[in-house]
Amino acid sequence: MKTLQFKNGDKLPIIGLGTWKSKPGEVFKAVLWAIESGYRHIDCAAIYDNEKEVGKALEEAMKSNIVRREELFITSKLWNSNHRLEDVQPALTQTLQDLRLDYLDLYLIHWPISFKPGVGFAQTREEFYTYSDVPLRQTWQGMEQCVKADLTRHIGVSNFNISKLKEIIGNAKITPEMNQIELHPFLPQNKLVDFCKKNNILVTAYSPLGSGDRAASIKKPDEPSLMEHPVIEQLASAKGASPAQILIAFSIHRDIAVIPKSVNKERIAQNLASIDISLDEEDMKSLSQIGTNYRFVDGSFFTGVKSPYVLKDLWETE
Ligand SMILES: NC(=O)c1ccc[n+]([C@@H]2O[C@H](COP(=O)([O-])OP(=O)(O)OC[C@H]3O[C@@H](n4cnc5c(N)ncnc54)[C@H](OP(=O)(O)O)[C@@H]3O)[C@@H](O)[C@H]2O)c1
Repeated sequence: MKTLQFKNGDKLPIIGLGTWKSKPGEVFKAVLWAIESGYRHIDCAAIYDNEKEVGKALEEAMKSNIVRREELFITSKLWNSNHRLEDVQPALTQTLQDLRLDYLDLYLIHWPISFKPGVGFAQTREEFYTYSDVPLRQTWQGMEQCVKADLTRHIGVSNFNISKLKEIIGNAKITPEMNQIELHPFLPQNKLVDFCKKNNILVTAYSPLGSGDRAASIKKPDEPSLMEHPVIEQLASAKGASPAQILIAFSIHRDIAVIPKSVNKERIAQNLASIDISLDEEDMKSLSQIGTNYRFVDGSFFTGVKSPYVLKDLWETE
């Protein structure tokens, strides 16, 4: 498996298994199938509400000697309600307990959005904190403490744009080593990826297949289809691959880690086999010229009249 390398030499397998929306009852099998078929990188988060079941699968895989802990790369994410300095380490401790692990390989700030403690999804203005209540720098200090306490090997962020990354870098003892962002041919994120590469920040592509299984409440009715786009379909048929494999290969070709979610045994294996799809410069050119510009996970569920946050503060203008 191709890997990306952290500054200290630790390696991140470029394909990982996504677990958002993987339901209890499904995710145990999905994680085991993934590990059995060769995945060594699993992407988790406290808010996915399935870490306990992921933990059972990790334990099962290690107990049955399919894999050793040091061969796995496990990522999880700090939820928005635990951004205060004193809440970061306890949140990670809970995640470790749920995942049945002593340490994580990578812990990320999930979103640059802050809720009051105990809030799952803020619905009223009172349930949010603003950046003056809880500056991102404060949350990052908590993340640094987690490294010092040996609870995680690496720390990073998710859904951070360039200005928010600069704010963290300018005040950090440990600079972020990862930015996990939505990325695919409808949202290639060239500017943000360039910035990350120049600043030694690795990138992970989320929703690489267009996140088709999101709840209707967070989907727009007229969303374009990534997997059915003619350029993707043509490339897939020319290479004897599936559209999903072309989309996964798109990130791999750019040295960007990619975490497709699946709970289906065949698709889990098929996604891993994307490592064998080679795209040449012509293929990459046609993918980069698709022209459709679309963000599937647009964060609008964190904004609006009842929120102190606005969308234009979240995203990079391409
Ligand atoms: N940091 C963040 O804020 C953030 C946001 C979104 C996602 N993520 C992470 O990124 C992961 C992936 O993103 P995502 O879950 O939004 O969506 P995704 O991986 O783009 O798409 C998942 C959908 O594609 C289907 N699928 C998987 N493999 C397929 C294949 N080979 N052929 C056809 N369909 C296939 C899945 O169905 P089946 O399961 O039935 O196969 C599911 O419906 C998440 O699970 C999560 O770990 C992070």
